[in-house]
Parts: sequence; C-alpha cells; structure tokens
Amino acid sequence: MEKQHRCRRLVLVPCPFQGHMTPMLQLGTILHSRGFYITIAHTQFNFPNPLNFPDFNFLEIYEDVISGFNANCKAPLRESLARMMEKEDQHSKIACIIYDEYISAANMLTYQEIPRLLKDDLWYSTYVGAEAMMLELVPGLEPLRFKDLPITNFRDLDDLPQLIVNAHDSRSYSAIIWNTMDCLEQSSLAHLRQEYQLPLFPIGPLHRTIPAPSISLLKEDQNCISWLDKQSHNSVIYVSVGSIAFLDSKELAEMAWGLANSEHPFLWVVRTDSISLPESFQETVGERGCITKWAPQKQVLAHSAVGGFWSHCGWNSTIESISEGVPMICQPYFGDQRVNSRYLSLVWGVGLEWENDMNRGPIKEAIRMLMVGKEGEVIRQSAKDLKVKIELSMKQAVSSYNSLNELVDQILSF
Ligand code: UDX
Repeated sequence: MEKQHRCRRLVLVPCPFQGHMTPMLQLGTILHSRGFYITIAHTQFNFPNPLNFPDFNFLEIYEDVISGFNANCKAPLRESLARMMEKEDQHSKIACIIYDEYISAANMLTYQEIPRLLKDDLWYSTYVGAEAMMLELVPGLEPLRFKDLPITNFRDLDDLPQLIVNAHDSRSYSAIIWNTMDCLEQSSLAHLRQEYQLPLFPIGPLHRTIPAPSISLLKEDQNCISWLDKQSHNSVIYVSVGSIAFLDSKELAEMAWGLANSEHPFLWVVRTDSISLPESFQETVGERGCITKWAPQKQVLAHSAVGGFWSHCGWNSTIESISEGVPMICQPYFGDQRVNSRYLSLVWGVGLEWENDMNRGPIKEAIRMLMVGKEGEVIRQSAKDLKVKIELSMKQAVSSYNSLNELVDQILSF
C-alpha cells in the first residue's frame, strides 16, 4: 500500500515558530509513513534540523520574514515551487501544498463569526464602548466573552478586514486538516462543516499518531526527566508558557514564591537567560524544584510524576496535556490561547482559569486546589476521562483514525 503512494509529493509550509513547526512536522511524519514524499518549505529564521528528518526534502525560502512573513515569502515560495516543478518527474509530482493557518476549530469559528458581529454592530459598541462590555458573552460563541476573541489588538479595527478575508477565502484551499479530534471539538467542527462546503479532517492528536523525531528548535534538557523519576506519582506541577509568552521579573518572583509556598515539587521552564531568583528561594525549595530553559515537554506531560500543568494554553500544549490526562491551570496571554483556556475550563472541564494578577498567595492556592484540593477533584477526574475518550478516538474505525484514511484518499484524488 505504501509503495503505491510514493509517487506523490506534498509540500508543507509551516509558519516559522515552534508552535506551528511542531504540528506541521508531525503531520509530515505521519503522511510520510503513509507513503508520500515530503518537502518542508522553510525560511532562514527558525528552521528545523534536517538531520532529524533524513527522509524529507527541505526547500529554503530566501527572504526576510521578520518584516512580514506572508507578504515577503509569497514570491520566493512561488519561484522555488516553480523550479521544483520543472525538475519533477512522474515519481515526485506535487500532489498538494499544505500550509498552516488556524489552530483549533473553536478558534477558526471565532473568525468566521466576526462578520456577523460587525453586521449587528455588536463589535463596535463593545470595543469602542464600555470596557465592562468586554466581559459580556459573545452571542453564538458562548462561553467566549468579547475579551476572549483572538484579536491581537482590540482597538485596532484595521486588523479585521484581513482576518475576515482570510477566514472566508476558502476558494484557495480544498480541505482543512486539524490537529484536533471530533470527540473534543464536535460542535465547532459541525458548525464549520455547515459553513464551508469542504472536507474537514480532524486527525489529532498528531503527536500520538506515530513517534516523530525531535522537532524542538531549542535544546531539550533531559536532566529534568531524571529529576522527575525521583518524584512521587502525580505530585509535580509543571509550569511552562510555551515558546513566545514570558513572565516579567516581578511575575517571575511571584511565581517562584507561589511555587515554593505550594509545597509541591515543581518543574519550571524559564526561557529567559538572566534568571535572577532570590537566593532565599533557592534555599527554601532545594531539590523540590527543577528549573530549566527548555524541557522535553511531551515526555514531561507523559511522566507519571506530573499531576498538573500551569500553562499559557497554546494549542500544542493543550493537546499534549489533555492527551495525557493532565489537568491545567490556564493562564492565557494572547490570540487563540484565550479561546483554548475558556474551552479547557468551561467546556471540557479539565482546567482552572487563572485571571488574577500574579501574586504568590493566589498562585499557591490555585496550585494546591488543582493538585490536591477538594474543588479540584472534578477537574482531575474530567482530565482522566477526556484522556480515555481521546485514546478511543485514535483506535481503528473511530474518528481520528478514519479521518486520516480519508485525508490520504483525498490527497490521492488530486
Ligand atoms: C504558538 C502560539 O503562541 C499559540 O497560541 C498557538 O496555539 C500555537 O503557536 P507556543 O506559544 O509556542 O505556540 O505554544 P504551544 O502551541 O503550546 O507550542 C509550544 C510547543 O513547544 C509544544 O509542542 C511544547 O511541547 C513545546 N515545548 C514547550 C517544549 O518542547 N519544551 C518546553 O520547555 C516548552
């Protein structure tokens, strides 16, 4: 069966950031295992290590992406593809291009709903009007509030036309692939299926489909796994806000003391070079805390010592955590993270929403509540239940498994 597919090439174009590179390379690995040739188009900024993917081709796009990825990469990508197509033979014809865009189905749904909000004048009366309206639920998108919508700058209405064009310009694509599962986002996917007359393939969780080589743009610190091995079952709170968000120095200090006072062992990813945590903090926590610049997160979340995750709710972290049944404290920063946080806490019931200022007292309380508190019991149980549901969805003849087969058939039909 594999050999039969080998004459088709897929070109994957990930946005050059860890959170986008990760699912695209996972997808490439999965589709390669189904017999396709894979080319990864990448910029000079933030590209993966080709040595980790000896079976893939890498196509470098020479452009300055920082000043505008989409605008600046379009022409060079087109030229590179044209050169590729000139050289292609019958064994490597490009079947399709896969690019990354929307993160979760719920997130895409918000973009799709914005034109309606504009039409009803709700958008303007909310954003240009009273701040208090930000806490109002968005009609049709409950439990999202206006403040949860994934717009970078609420006041910058100039952003909107482009976002809407992107969300509605389905002429340029033939299908949408999601790193999600029907059992997780059934209602959002149903809405989107109705709206777009396109095949949608929820084939997640990608990282669990087949093992992929390391996709980390930063060096993973394996010492934290040895440290985890020494901790007891479900005792450790893992803290990471992904590859972009960060805590400022005051927030770092509050988090440090919140962790120390929680009395739980903790594994904390602090990416900043200059971590200046107070000496007394180091003395207080001793071996109870492990601080690292970059952890092997998937391994961490799968480790039996980890009982909770303080997260910014990036979509990869979300999927990785719920696939392992790890309950979360949701501290979103921007974009889709607010949507994910809302769904984690209010729809799937596996997270505790963090909306406070960063102060050590409430941080300690939230950690204790999630890890051992009575109020956290329901969340911990829901996280376990969701893991079971997700595992089931990946089994033969159930949704993600079927969607992947349908995706392969669709690509072969091009
Ligand atoms: C970005 C956006 O910020 C996010 O909102 C969007 O959903 C995806 O793109 P990022 O902030 O990096 O992503 O978060 P996330 O999606 O969680 O991706 C981070 C990835 O880095 C995860 O796959 C995680 O496993 C990995 N990671 C993170 C590590 O391997 N080690 C770490 O120490 C921290």
